[in-house]
Amino acid sequence: MKELEIIQGGMGVAVSNWRLANSVARLGQLGVVSGTALENVLARRLQAGDPDGHMRRALAQFPLAPMAERVIDRYFLEGGKAVDAPFAIVPMFTIDPDPALIELTVVANFVEVFLAREGHTGKVGINYLEKIQMPTLSSLYGALLAGVDYVIVGAGIPREIPGALDRLARGEAAELKLHVEGGGEEVQMRFDPVAFAGEKRALQRPRFLAIVSSSTLAQALLKRATGEIYGFVVELPTAGGHNAPPRGKLQLNDRGEPVYGPRDEVDLAKIAALGKPFWMAGSCGNPGRLREVQEAGAVGVQVGTAFAFCEESGVDGQLKSQVLRGLRDGEVEIFTDPAASPTGFPFKVIEFEGKLPGVDAYAVRPRTCNLGYLRTIYRRDDGSVDYRCAAESVASYVKKGGDVTETEGRKCLCNALLANVGLPQRRPSGYLEQPLLTAGDDLLQVAGFLEADKDTYGAADVVDYLLAKV
Ligand SMILES: Cc1cc2nc3c(=O)[nH]c(=O)nc-3n(C[C@H](O)[C@H](O)[C@H](O)COP(=O)(O)O)c2cc1C
Repeated sequence: MKELEIIQGGMGVAVSNWRLANSVARLGQLGVVSGTALENVLARRLQAGDPDGHMRRALAQFPLAPMAERVIDRYFLEGGKAVDAPFAIVPMFTIDPDPALIELTVVANFVEVFLAREGHTGKVGINYLEKIQMPTLSSLYGALLAGVDYVIVGAGIPREIPGALDRLARGEAAELKLHVEGGGEEVQMRFDPVAFAGEKRALQRPRFLAIVSSSTLAQALLKRATGEIYGFVVELPTAGGHNAPPRGKLQLNDRGEPVYGPRDEVDLAKIAALGKPFWMAGSCGNPGRLREVQEAGAVGVQVGTAFAFCEESGVDGQLKSQVLRGLRDGEVEIFTDPAASPTGFPFKVIEFEGKLPGVDAYAVRPRTCNLGYLRTIYRRDDGSVDYRCAAESVASYVKKGGDVTETEGRKCLCNALLANVGLPQRRPSGYLEQPLLTAGDDLLQVAGFLEADKDTYGAADVVDYLLAKV
């Protein structure tokens, strides 16, 4: 099969949703859905009344009908919830999750991939973050059940996922070692398809791509991965979302952003010498760059930012228009925030005239952790494990043995990212969770997609532009 030149990057939460991935796959390129927090996305879309019926149409195709019916019974609200009512709380993942949460996770990943694959023969991938470990096996299984073609994993060293894919595709139980701060006895997640589905199914084993920021990491993964790595996405620190931290001691520029230097440059010749297909990411959203990286041996590019604000993306319509208007008026900037993400990785945010949208509302946000995707597992003194997030209430983080300096400047990305896609939680106190938009340095080019008489553009405009002759 001819390699696909363009990967539309996975963008969480639900920015690269099934609709965007479906469009890109129809255009003959790789459409990727974000696999992050899909259980909350599905539960909230159902509580919002599933107005076009897409969720229920996909749920009707889930191979284990009683599970899909239970999800509908639990979350679907005809006509949608009242605007001021909170969304139902989905239990947070732990090392021993509620079976209903596992079921919801498998079903939600199936739904997103099913819809992305519907009605065409193009290729579809799903993106996960290595840092978010506890939902991974059940998520993978749901995506496999829907016939996903590629699994793409970033934000960490996904050593064990390739082997887990081999096992799950054969219908065998898979395990994943979890990272526990404070060490101690090994903790694993396990997913057994036979126990889950009551029968053994053989499924297509998707191609696995690891997102890396250096040739050393790519090489180490090839040596140590538990199963086949098909290829790599090599991501530079100008990319939207999380960025790999700079190597060496962290230095900030006068705007307070991490400074990247020569040690962060990627040696493309070394990547090419690994003999695996690779795609470049990070400000690669233009035809000149596509040709350039291909000359250096890459198959093509992975692009996020240019797709993030197109018609089909999941970003809330009003926010999207606000960004596009701001771009036209030259009011928008990108800030690489070294502190915002509880992961400790730099995270790019969009600023309007030096200010984050909703920053005043954010300042009064009472800190709490109620989605929990970025919680880390830590070992208590008595040997048991517990969970903490650097963006939760400072008192509770410190009580759990966390270092207070770790909490400074942290933002609740879980809630903010769901707000970005029009699914904000309304707390019982009335507080409405605020968005925090991310994009890469390429954002400033996005205005170029807007024709004079239009205030929107489509995924096809991005693909056509990338493939234009230079
Ligand atoms: C809004 C947004 C969200 C993103 N979320 C993720 C994510 O959840 N997982 C991931 O691996 N990469 C994520 N990325 C990175 C993209 O997949 C892609 O690699 C990157 O955007 C490419 O660089 P560019 O932004 O310059 O096009 C995100 C990027 C954007 C713009």
